[in-house]
Amino acid sequence: MYPQISRLMNCPGLIVSCLFAFLLSGSPLLCGSTAAIAVEKGSLPASELSNLETETDQLASRLDQRDARRRLIAIDDELSGHRDPEVSRLREKVLCLLARSLDKNAIQYIRTVFETDTEHRDEAAYALSLYAIQKPSDLAIWRFLIRSLTVVEGDQAVSVMKALTRYRQRATNPRWIRRIILIGLRLPESDQGVSIRLLQHWTNVRPAELLKMKAKATNCEILSAYQNWFRKKWPNELDPAWPKLPEKSRWRYEELKKKLAPLVFDKENVKRGKTVYQKAGCAKCHRKGDVGENLGPDLSDIAGLRQRKELLEAILFPNLELNEDYPSVTVLTTSGKTYSGLMSVGKAGVVQIIDSEGKKSSIEKGDIESISPSRQSNMPVGTLDPLSFQEICDLIAFVELRANSPQAYHRKEGP
Ligand code: HEC
Repeated sequence: MYPQISRLMNCPGLIVSCLFAFLLSGSPLLCGSTAAIAVEKGSLPASELSNLETETDQLASRLDQRDARRRLIAIDDELSGHRDPEVSRLREKVLCLLARSLDKNAIQYIRTVFETDTEHRDEAAYALSLYAIQKPSDLAIWRFLIRSLTVVEGDQAVSVMKALTRYRQRATNPRWIRRIILIGLRLPESDQGVSIRLLQHWTNVRPAELLKMKAKATNCEILSAYQNWFRKKWPNELDPAWPKLPEKSRWRYEELKKKLAPLVFDKENVKRGKTVYQKAGCAKCHRKGDVGENLGPDLSDIAGLRQRKELLEAILFPNLELNEDYPSVTVLTTSGKTYSGLMSVGKAGVVQIIDSEGKKSSIEKGDIESISPSRQSNMPVGTLDPLSFQEICDLIAFVELRANSPQAYHRKEGP
């Protein structure tokens, strides 16, 4: 049995549509949410979408009935694999209805969407947050909500944070506390209150303690007080502020995110993307299928972990999150020279540093004055600047190619 299917077997409503898809396509990987990964479809005909929307609205009044919930699951399943923003909006509606039913199988289905359909993780997290606000006891769902903090935005983020304030469980890892500050900074001031309540819940530090002098502070002022508190408490962590792009950057995050979001890529994109991947220097540090070195994280199956917007964020802002498995260090020698980059094991008595250009330097241990951890990512900034929009699309198409998907045509054909 294919693991995708056995996982989905927990959702009775899905079995029918899965088997149906299986019979039609002859490929079990077209089944269920995994379709979003294996085959991406463009937009759905407007009439079909509006029919499904009308049906969804009708089902909303019958959530207590099993057949209605099954039909909602089948509708969501039908919509999976489309990148169209209108489809995402309807899926959010369907998933939220399923969450409101508080039914065990419906919740299990939403969790499966979260796990298997990376691109729709934010909608699934939003739906789970509605459930958790009602029943803040299930720790498995708490973990899903925490994991969603890197993708939820706007109203979704507000709802997820609201749910997290309901749990007794607290996150104490600075990585997540920093995330809440970052999310708060992006919200309109009127919505920032929930991030402040969550920070207080998790850190046990009250805004009043941070703002001793001021009785009445705005949400912005309180968040900035938490930023300063964070900097003092964890001086070695990344700064709790959004990294900025250099003035001269050719590409802006918001603009690229919006333009890339609805695009569906094909074999030709992937084929050209492999060349861009090498031209842009990614291959110097990242392995992807059969290309590239292993200095940074392996990107062969990265699309199973990260959404397109997260990939873009990671590429534009290498300092947004650091990966502990690839620590950067700064080495100071007795003669006053410094080297920064990834440290690797060299010959006995020698430390090897690989800088962001991929240049290797060997330093005798006896010449080393100090080695300190660096808060600077070794991944270079500005890698997209020399690329055209077309090249960026091709690069993303190549990076998104999944090693374990039958669509991984580069394995068979080698673009
Ligand atoms: C000099 C080495 C280097 C180069 C060149 C480089 N990266 Fe990275 N990259 C890293 C490291 C190291 C990380 C881990 C995050 C960190 O600690 O900075 C990373 C992280 C990433 C991530 C996030 C992975 C995850 O697990 O979430 C993506 C995506 C990525 N890089 C894509 C690229 C692309 C695309 C290029 C080419 C345009 C590129 N990188 C060039 C070193 C590099």
